[in-house]
Amino acid sequence: MINIGLLGLGTVGSGVVEILKNRKDELKNITGQEIKVKKVLVKNINKERQVKLEKEALTDDFEQVLSDEEISIVVEVTGDLELSYKYITESLKSGKHVVTANKAVVSKYFEELSSLAAEKNLAFIYEASVGGGIPVLKPLREQLSLNEISEVQGILNGTCNYILTRMVNEGKGYDEILKIAQELGYAEADPTADVEGYDTQRKLRILATLSLQGKITEEDILLDGISSITSLDIDHIKNMDATVKLIAEASAYEDGFTAVVQPTIVKNSNYFANVNMAFNSVAFKGDNVGELKFYGPGAGKLPTANAVLSDVLDIVLDIYRKGNPLGEKVLKNYNEKIRGNYYLRISNANEEIVHSLRAIANNVLSLGSQPAILTDEIELSKLMEIITSFNIEKKDYFLARIIS
Ligand code: HSE
Repeated sequence: MINIGLLGLGTVGSGVVEILKNRKDELKNITGQEIKVKKVLVKNINKERQVKLEKEALTDDFEQVLSDEEISIVVEVTGDLELSYKYITESLKSGKHVVTANKAVVSKYFEELSSLAAEKNLAFIYEASVGGGIPVLKPLREQLSLNEISEVQGILNGTCNYILTRMVNEGKGYDEILKIAQELGYAEADPTADVEGYDTQRKLRILATLSLQGKITEEDILLDGISSITSLDIDHIKNMDATVKLIAEASAYEDGFTAVVQPTIVKNSNYFANVNMAFNSVAFKGDNVGELKFYGPGAGKLPTANAVLSDVLDIVLDIYRKGNPLGEKVLKNYNEKIRGNYYLRISNANEEIVHSLRAIANNVLSLGSQPAILTDEIELSKLMEIITSFNIEKKDYFLARIIS
């Protein structure tokens, strides 16, 4: 019998219980053992729940999980940052393998938790933290042994992609679709993390650090979210025979890297243009394998729980990669070198702003109080300087890079 200590019984936790129950016999055939959720840490033991568990399995005391010597794997799906850090460190220190879906904790404590697990010869794996149900981190870790990875790129947030897809395809309003994304269980408890891009930034931090084999933190990544997009932007973008996605990208650059999360206008013929709704995609380039692309459901209960259980299965079968997967390269941040062609729209613009915009435009899409332009190739840092000089709030402009 393999006993799991499950921390959290929200959307993902319930999915884990459900899949384990439905696949009980198959899992037993493959592993030769029953995989059982022995204890579940919840905030309120008396709350009515849809998932059926033995009453005595529920506890509100983490010590009950930690001190249970029969529990060999802790599955952390609480969604809480500092508590989960405590749970994960204590679990590893007491000899338990850890699987987590929590990108915030992996991102913040990546180096520390990876080396603690390696030191203890235990698994610390987090497939569900990036790309929801897509198996991407395991193949990436595998390819790292054989390749130098030069670039990783992706649509990493299901909520943003769902909102953008429905705004473009159906002309629906931003707030209305965000609400539906929350109801469907795609969004974070606080959806600001989704729409302002923090969730994507965390996922890119994880992907970039693994891919480029050196520490790239959240602060190293330039960030812009999607919350200021309007129906006027959508109209302009559709007229360009294009769509818009929140794209995360990290690339090797000289003795360092560039890393950015930003709204990106992609021509309809581009691969990413066809990644729609709550689907995600991750592409990375290795010097031997070339470009690999991964595509699948980026959020939601069962896909995410499925990714969590893939990690559990790898531990049970003892086929997870041993050792610390993080590299020790010291990488310089070259984000000031990021350049491209951009779309910029400003609301409530005065004449002076319109004049400045005209000076950097190679195409003017609209004028008046809501001017929108396309720029020539320009450094992002220079464009940001110009925008900052307008002294306008973030909610009053929308900036997107344009790629073909
Ligand atoms: N809120 C996240 C998303 C969940 O929308 O992608 C999956 O990480």
